[in-house]
Amino acid sequence: MRTVSWPKEDFSRIPYAMYHDEDVYKREQERIFRGPTWNYLGLEAELPNPGDYITTVIGDTPIIVSRDQQGKVHAMVNRCMHRGATLRREAFGNTADHTCVYHQWRFSLGGQLLSVPFPHGAKGEGGLPPDFDKSTIRLEALRVEIYKGVIFATFSDATEPLLEYLDAPVVAEIDRLFAKKIRILGYQRQRIFGNWKLYNDNVRDPNHGGLLHMFFATFDLIRLSQVGGAKGDRRHRHNISYSALGEEAAGGQGNYGDTQKSSLTGYRLRDTSMLQGRREFPDRVTLVILSVFPGAVFQQISNSLCTRQIRTRGVNEMELYWTYFGFEDDDESMTEHRLLQSNLCGPGGYISMEDGEAVEIVHKASATSQDAHARLEIGGVGEIRDSKNLISEMPVRGFWSYYHELMDFPASASASAQVAAQVPGKAAA
Ligand code: FES
Ligand SMILES: [Fe+2]
Repeated sequence: MRTVSWPKEDFSRIPYAMYHDEDVYKREQERIFRGPTWNYLGLEAELPNPGDYITTVIGDTPIIVSRDQQGKVHAMVNRCMHRGATLRREAFGNTADHTCVYHQWRFSLGGQLLSVPFPHGAKGEGGLPPDFDKSTIRLEALRVEIYKGVIFATFSDATEPLLEYLDAPVVAEIDRLFAKKIRILGYQRQRIFGNWKLYNDNVRDPNHGGLLHMFFATFDLIRLSQVGGAKGDRRHRHNISYSALGEEAAGGQGNYGDTQKSSLTGYRLRDTSMLQGRREFPDRVTLVILSVFPGAVFQQISNSLCTRQIRTRGVNEMELYWTYFGFEDDDESMTEHRLLQSNLCGPGGYISMEDGEAVEIVHKASATSQDAHARLEIGGVGEIRDSKNLISEMPVRGFWSYYHELMDFPASASASAQVAAQVPGKAAA
């Protein structure tokens, strides 16, 4: 592992090597994704019936999420126990069992081996040895916890219970967003040529919203009455960035459609129906970006609701998997409205297409200067805490503080010994 220095113990400097080092990436797969973390897998609404399944990933590891005949949801590594083939290649479906295409070993919906073809061979020759015991063979299973229909799993027995891991402020946001039964509206997938942590940095950085994303500024749609901030769990490993309309704002819920043409550009939207906010939550919050360590995001942008899952694809690439949803009691017009507003998000979204580009330009330029560091001082240095405004990079530092703790870089192989010596409670070996 290359020598890496962490010059500040408050994570206000991030070594660029973290985004490019293959050894760091391998270690993340073991210590983060297979470590003591709860990883978002999907929504129960995606597999409502017995026999329903979806395929997904945790880091690089392929996962099947499968509902058995009793209604129980299982998460299992999507790898056949015979010779390691991908067991389920479809994105989703309904099935009586999971049968491998290679030699047709058949597994139950909960991962138990049910049958192997030709167990006694043919004509008294071949087949399985007499002590072969199907009952001892099952797919590698993960711990699963489901909260408000949101499915999480962990590889580690050491992971704390899900609600402790999420902590009260995050649980409150999930309660708010999933207060009613949801309905899946659709998916988007986006390939980004940059390291997965750069997307985490982006999504926890409310400061860039009004600076990078020019859609609102171009059409003069920014409301000065918006108030917002960022808050986290007790360890600031997760983050909630939010903004709300102030008391003086008319209309009650993010209604931008009545604005005049931009004094800056002279441009004006002819059809502003996409921007009409419909009040549906008891508060005045119009934007919530909740990011859960290590790679999940839950979003409300006006009436566009979705989850985003960060899928790693090697050190230089990632995929973002967007799942849009509404509520079962939405009428047709509300569903149409949510679909219209989903144009704000996704790979070509009016206010999110620049995020993929931001990840890529950082990845590209930082690759050539891996001994240099990113600088995270906006919003203050030192203690990582909640803030009452959006001009802050503190949530990004929160991610890195927990990342660094889990990665536990070996002192001998890396100058992260320096930071080990600086972080309270960690001694350099
Ligand atoms: S690898 Fe799956 S049955 Fe052989
Ligand atoms: Fe953004």
